Amino acid sequence: MRVIIAKDYDGISRTAASIIAKEIRAKPRAVLGLATGSTPLGTYKELIRMHKEESLDFSGVRTFNLDEYFGLPPEHPQSYHTFMSENFFDYVNVKAENVSIPDGTVTDVESFCAGYEESIRKAGGIDLQLLGIGRDGHIGFNEPGSSLGSRTRLKTLAEETVRDNARFFGGEEKVPRLALTMGIGTILEARKLVMLASGAEKAGAVKNAIEGPLSSQVTASALQLHPQVAVVIDEKAARLLDRREYYLYVEKMAEQVEHDTGI
Ligand code: PGA
Repeated sequence: MRVIIAKDYDGISRTAASIIAKEIRAKPRAVLGLATGSTPLGTYKELIRMHKEESLDFSGVRTFNLDEYFGLPPEHPQSYHTFMSENFFDYVNVKAENVSIPDGTVTDVESFCAGYEESIRKAGGIDLQLLGIGRDGHIGFNEPGSSLGSRTRLKTLAEETVRDNARFFGGEEKVPRLALTMGIGTILEARKLVMLASGAEKAGAVKNAIEGPLSSQVTASALQLHPQVAVVIDEKAARLLDRREYYLYVEKMAEQVEHDTGI
């Protein structure tokens, strides 16, 4: 696991965007797993800038979003469909037919979820999955207690998540209580994972995910099982890490090796 500690939010956004851009330049038909929430906003802004100024081309890119609120139609202002259009897709050249976001209005949930998994498989699997982390340690909407082998399914939001998201809905009572989300098993099948965290309020979750025991009570701890993970966090989110100095040292050594050997 690489733990990249950037100075601030802009630093994590630039780092995450450059990892994603490198993936797309190496594989123009890359399959990206995308995330919503406040944290990846800066990453999307930076990718949009790269598209406009550095001709980063998304025309062959296929995308799958992690999750969607259950019961919200795509056109709802707080749906993740709307979020992705307003913050990313409207400004880059990803083709509409190459975008998949779970549909919060389906009635046959089980067959929809099985179909979502099947589409990911048919696309060749996800090359790089972007993730945020909730204060309760969730990734996607895999709340504490989610099986570490879980697949795409309907999940009940934890109280803490409802409270955290109330700011977008103008009150807790308006926040949907259910969501469709990729499972931890689905996420772990992506070839690379990039998890972002920013701010002191995420420091506890980050500490538990990276340095705590592997546990379904902190579903982000499942990242410890994955061979290719970059955790990109700012100094505030890194505040509680015991091995913070070591992670900084490792990154310095990696830079040195890159400089000396060109790899
Ligand atoms: P945030 O959400 O980026 O809005 O903090 C992260 C998450 O809950 O996954």
